[in-house]
Amino acid sequence: MKSKEDNISLIGFMGAGKSTVGPILAKKLKKKFVELDSEIEMEMGISVSEIFTMFGEDYFRRIEKRMLKRILFRRGVVVSCGGGVVLDKENRALLKERSVVIWLDISEDEVVRRLAGDKNRPLLAGDFKRNIPNLLKDRFIFYEETFDIRIDVNSMDVDRIVSAILTKIENQHDA
Ligand code: S3P
Repeated sequence: MKSKEDNISLIGFMGAGKSTVGPILAKKLKKKFVELDSEIEMEMGISVSEIFTMFGEDYFRRIEKRMLKRILFRRGVVVSCGGGVVLDKENRALLKERSVVIWLDISEDEVVRRLAGDKNRPLLAGDFKRNIPNLLKDRFIFYEETFDIRIDVNSMDVDRIVSAILTKIENQHDA
């Protein structure tokens, strides 16, 4: 890929498949895969859930922003971003400036189906069935504002998602 610093960012709601799709896509494109949440965990030495519990969401967002900048300063990476990365205006601008942004777009029903019983997402703790639509509603506009390529992932398996992304990237080049 010749544009946007050779980087690809995967955005989308929790459960959309960013962390599963990312490494496969990176391998196909011969790029390095980086997971933003894992980078944060390595930097802090504790899990994302522990960061939320011990220091709160604002603190997590500050580290997330710092790590995103560090990752997107590089070239030739596929980065899988946490679902809330688009909440920050500067993050959105940076994503658009330094990567081709791929939005894995998932419906509310599908998130509920995939994440029922999940214990690793602090923002879904408590009233799981109410939290998902509220968060999705708040974030939808930000995903819409940020993406270059949108993939409806609701009825697609991982291989189909990866090939849909590859086709759209190719078409972008031809455009
Ligand atoms: C978050 C999504 C999580 C993680 C954190 C916050 C969010 O990542 O960054 O729990 O705000 O949507 P995934 O989207 O990979 O689950």
